Amino acid sequence: MTDDIKSLYLGLLKKSLTFNIWPEPLVPVSFFNSGRSWLIRCLFATATKLLGPWGLVLARQYGHHSVDLAEGKSFALFADTMVGLKRLDNLQTCLETVLREGIPGEMIETGVWRGGACIFMRGVLAAHGVTDRKVFVADSFEGLPKPDVDLFPEDKGDRHSRWRFLAVSLEEVKNNFLRYGLLDDQVVFVKGFFHDSLPHAPIGSLSVLRLDGDMYGSTMDVLENLYKKLNPGGFCIIDDYALPGCRKAVNDFREKHGICEPMIEIDWTGCYWRKGEAVCKGQLT
Ligand SMILES: C[S@@+](CC[C@H](N)C(=O)[O-])C[C@H]1O[C@@H](n2cnc3c(N)ncnc32)[C@H](O)[C@@H]1O
Repeated sequence: MTDDIKSLYLGLLKKSLTFNIWPEPLVPVSFFNSGRSWLIRCLFATATKLLGPWGLVLARQYGHHSVDLAEGKSFALFADTMVGLKRLDNLQTCLETVLREGIPGEMIETGVWRGGACIFMRGVLAAHGVTDRKVFVADSFEGLPKPDVDLFPEDKGDRHSRWRFLAVSLEEVKNNFLRYGLLDDQVVFVKGFFHDSLPHAPIGSLSVLRLDGDMYGSTMDVLENLYKKLNPGGFCIIDDYALPGCRKAVNDFREKHGICEPMIEIDWTGCYWRKGEAVCKGQLT
């Protein structure tokens, strides 16, 4: 594949995964039921029942501002990722840098939802003809855990576990990879809540570690289990630095382990650092 074709393919892949090349279709009102009161759900269910025999659906138009889509401040409801274009560009740069510089190790995203960012990672490997690296796809595939306040008091009151639209089954994610022609043995699924699944996951070493688990505990579990596997020169990418829980987990972990590589901003919430770039005060060289 020439460089022009690679860049066209990866550009198209990003736009498709984010649903950026099509106008957003109408969205059935039942889509957001989990956040609604019983009464409203009943009203919508009745209207849906009445309209059904005519082949009609009660649906709503959502408008997105193109800047918000690029920044990942909002996402198209039919998208396969809620990561915006800027953060996908960053992911591509990180992957292509480790490939170009020969930094060894696999790639992982922890917290994948419909799988879009992982599908993109597999697409980057395919575009570059890389056959000896794997993409690990780690998720509960049933949404976020209830806060474990004994272990992580910082998550007290967190409501992410109630958002059922964040629960996407393993089957659905596999099917999404299939739709893009990117499901093969270079894709490894790690199912389970991170504190159970990651300690035993068959991951050797990593070159790209991308975290997107939203909560304090979900971020800390990943850093505690996987950061030591990230090779020098590898990238640690944080999707949710704008969320207070995630931000605190990242700051606590960096402080505890004396990590002083500079954090680089991607957009309003994404940031990353490159392992081993800085010589820290008091750190052995
Ligand atoms: C915001 S979504 C991820 C978005 C995704 N990266 C994308 O490309 O659109 C958060 C995901 O993290 C998963 N998750 C959060 N905490 C988890 C945990 N402790 N264990 C397993 N999965 C978790 C949820 O199931 C959900 O799929």
